[in-house]
Amino acid sequence: MLAGKRRVEMMSVSVAFIGVLILRLVSSQNEPSISSSDHITLPSDHHSLPLTLQCNLTAAQGAHIESFWMKNGEEIEETRGERANTEYYLKKPRGEDAGEYMCVYTFNMDLPANATIEIKAGPDIIGHKRSDNKNEGQKALLYCKATGYPYPIWTWRKLDNGFYMDINNSSGRFFINNKDNYTELSIINLDIGSDPGEYQCNATNIFGTSSIVSVLRVRSYLAWLWPLLGVLAEVIILVIIIVVYEKRKKPDDIQDDDEPAGPMKTNSTNNHKDKNLRQRNTN
Ligand SMILES: *[C@@H]1O[C@H](CO)[C@@H](O)[C@H](O)[C@H]1NC(C)=O
Ligand SMILES: *[C@@H]1O[C@H](CO)[C@@H](O)[C@H](O)[C@H]1NC(C)=O
Ligand SMILES: *[C@@H]1O[C@H](CO)[C@@H](O)[C@H](O)[C@H]1NC(C)=O
Ligand SMILES: *[C@@H]1O[C@H](CO)[C@@H](O)[C@H](O)[C@H]1NC(C)=O
Ligand SMILES: *[C@@H]1O[C@H](CO)[C@@H](O)[C@H](O)[C@H]1NC(C)=O
Ligand SMILES: *[C@@H]1O[C@H](CO)[C@@H](O)[C@H](O)[C@H]1NC(C)=O
Repeated sequence: MLAGKRRVEMMSVSVAFIGVLILRLVSSQNEPSISSSDHITLPSDHHSLPLTLQCNLTAAQGAHIESFWMKNGEEIEETRGERANTEYYLKKPRGEDAGEYMCVYTFNMDLPANATIEIKAGPDIIGHKRSDNKNEGQKALLYCKATGYPYPIWTWRKLDNGFYMDINNSSGRFFINNKDNYTELSIINLDIGSDPGEYQCNATNIFGTSSIVSVLRVRSYLAWLWPLLGVLAEVIILVIIIVVYEKRKKPDDIQDDDEPAGPMKTNSTNNHKDKNLRQRNTN
């Protein structure tokens, strides 16, 4: 009885063991393997030779359907094909070509498989707001865009006594919004005393650093109030002139209108009467 029980236990253990082994074999057979190009670092002068990114599907359980390429998580158009060895060609690799590339193979019976190739490069600022001109109390917005991979770490500084210093946010009016390849500095409730000046955005990764300056100008409220006051003063003076003129003109006009009007009317009716009388007389 006891021996029989042990034998059954041993058998079930070995069945389980074999089961796990078979599972392992099947899953390792199922896992497609891809042989891909090494990561690349672009030279800092951005004059790189043409590049070819390669992926070879070296093992897969079932036939694949097709393959395509992605950059930074987005499919690159017109890269879909059916071959097991696929290439992505960059004729003139530049800073903006840096990023995370991925070849993806799709299968009928399996999940997609992929391999990643990184093209690394130092940051290069390719766009920024040269200047912003605002009134005090308003909001200013400065931004910078950069290429480079890994994505740069962004910082903003302000020129202060000849040195670029970290922004003093004691007033709580400075807001920085960083995306992968983009940074934005917004300053609310602009202060004419402390805010105008030169702001520097700085993009840095392990391969390099790049920075550029934007100028913020802040005008006083009065700057745009003065022309308005000027117009207002002109209107007031015009109104005064008209009123004074009308007042001086009025007494004469009243005399001119009232004095002759009454008698003349009666005269005219009298004249008509006279005319009728005269006409009757002639009849
Ligand atoms: C892919 O296969 C081709 C031959 O078909 C070979 O020349 C190339 O080096 C392979 N690339 C990789 C990344 O394995
Ligand atoms: C790439 O493969 C990994 C698993 O190896 C998976 O988690 C990821 O979602 C895949 N990515 C894409 C874009 O297919
Ligand atoms: C920041 O500015 C406030 C007032 O504008 C000043 O009192 C403070 O010392 C400044 N902090 C730094 C670190 O410069
Ligand atoms: C500045 O201070 C405000 C308020 O404390 C905060 O919300 C904001 O994130 C700060 N900005 C920066 C760049 O640290
Ligand atoms: C910045 O990133 C966004 C989204 O990741 C992308 O659409 C855009 O093309 C990128 N711009 C540059 C200059 O790399
Ligand atoms: C950007 O900031 C980093 C870190 O402070 C500094 O080492 C680098 O020199 C700055 N880059 C430029 C171009 O000013």
